Amino acid sequence: MGLLLENTYIADVVVLVLTAVYLLYWYGTSTFDYWKKKGVPEIKKKIPFFGSDMDAVLLRKQMSLVMQDLYNELDGHKYGGMFSMKKPTLLVRDPELIKQIMVKDFSSFTDNGQITSEKNDPMFAFNIFAMKGDKWKYARSKMAPAFATGKIRSTFPLILEICEDLKSHINKKIESNSNCYEFEAHDFTKNYTTDVVGSCAFGIKCNSLSEPNNQFREMGKEILSPASFWRQVEISVLFAFPKIAELFGIKFIAKYTEDFFRDLILKAFAYREKHPEFKRNDFINLLMQLKKLGEVELDEHDKKEINISAVANEKGKIEFTDTVLTAQAVGFFIDGFETSSLALAFTLHELAMNPSIQDKLREELNNSFESNGGKIDYENIRGCAYLDNVLHETLRIYSPAGALARECTKRYTIPDSNVQLEVGDLITIPVYGLHHDPKYFPNPEVFDPDRFTEEAKKTRPAFAYLPFGEGPRQCIGFRFAQAQVKAAIATIVLNFRLEQSEKTEHPVVFNEKNFLLHAKNGLHLKLSPL
Ligand code: HEM
Repeated sequence: MGLLLENTYIADVVVLVLTAVYLLYWYGTSTFDYWKKKGVPEIKKKIPFFGSDMDAVLLRKQMSLVMQDLYNELDGHKYGGMFSMKKPTLLVRDPELIKQIMVKDFSSFTDNGQITSEKNDPMFAFNIFAMKGDKWKYARSKMAPAFATGKIRSTFPLILEICEDLKSHINKKIESNSNCYEFEAHDFTKNYTTDVVGSCAFGIKCNSLSEPNNQFREMGKEILSPASFWRQVEISVLFAFPKIAELFGIKFIAKYTEDFFRDLILKAFAYREKHPEFKRNDFINLLMQLKKLGEVELDEHDKKEINISAVANEKGKIEFTDTVLTAQAVGFFIDGFETSSLALAFTLHELAMNPSIQDKLREELNNSFESNGGKIDYENIRGCAYLDNVLHETLRIYSPAGALARECTKRYTIPDSNVQLEVGDLITIPVYGLHHDPKYFPNPEVFDPDRFTEEAKKTRPAFAYLPFGEGPRQCIGFRFAQAQVKAAIATIVLNFRLEQSEKTEHPVVFNEKNFLLHAKNGLHLKLSPL
């Protein structure tokens, strides 16, 4: 009798466990027939709950490389289905269809799939990158003027001041280290871009090059690479399970960081209101115009460039409160700081690896600046075609963002097909895969700036190259980014020789723990006087 009871009990437990496993499996795979039903070719790998990009989610392989594998698996197709965790996501490979989605049919793909909470995490939620729909349209139309060419031209002298600091910092290091300075390029460029953000966006001088542990630098680090283990766990939860994060009040920008930056901005506003004679062509100045006049003032050239009427939209009107204004300055950290420091660090790495390209660049810079008495200015830096090609080639090989996202916001039929995308479906554009496809860029691992001459660009589809994205949601800061990165490259190449050090690793191994493309073991280089 006892044995019988025991057996029945074990059978019940087994049935319960099997039912639970079956239900879990069913739930974890419940969306996985989505693309098959629509007749869309799909990625073979579909892991319950984790979908097609598990290695990226579990930080086992760098996200760009995972997306490149998926891009390659779909070779021969214009697009294919995959699953981001359980979410149906269309991976688009064809540059013409990418153009259609990002530009021509943008009205069906206005968002990029970020989930944020204005109440819980306003500093992140009011970042243009995270905003959605009409509110995004309104905010973007108000902020775009701050990034027009004329504004960057006025801010450029502040960037040049930091370049002077950079030069004297390197000189000091060279003098104290028997004529040679060995350094890790990404650490070095992060200090440079921190100083640029401090000066241009917050109106303060931080000297991160000589004092890398200053408070502003530490707070910037806190946003992008929090030191505490729990903050790292919180950030992972925030991106993988945004609803749960909101429930527990988890924020991308922690309260103390938020308070620090708000305090800086409000103090700067207060000082400038009290001292109207104080003039500085920085972002704070533009934020104050926005606060007082409801817009950033523009000259006629910039008005044409920004084409405000095309994006202005009163429907999603938001108030530019102190928090929303601070969020725009903090955006320089979230969107612009790491991307720009990576672009600069990888350029320095490739110039050290390719001495003949470095010499050719130096010659162009010398010729260009000679006519200006040796002085760098915004116009001559914009006129240096080879410098432009060098930076673009870096952004091709090492695009910081290896994939772009869009969310279907209006039902959409893919051209020349019966495939309908539903509201909420995600789109992935595998930038790294495109940039490394030999069809568009033969010998893709070779650093060759001549791929970006006007003639060479005509030989491939324009939308095979997307380091700053495209269309109305293209990077708002791309002119600023290029100005700060090019100014630093010019300063270094005109004054020093870049060389490999004994620790230089090439090809670079990428860090699977970072969402953006980082070198796992650092970019170790050497600088010496010319
Ligand atoms: C080399 C440096 C940079 C790179 C490679 C880069 C790249 C990108 C990319 C790929 C996007 C997404 C575009 C899309 O989805 O089509 C983006 C968006 C954005 N970037 Fe940048 N970025 C850089 C620097 C900056 C800087 C300096 C700022 C200044 C604050 C900035 C602000 C933004 C903002 C606000 C967005 C969101 C735009 C929107 O959704 O309307 N970025 N960036």
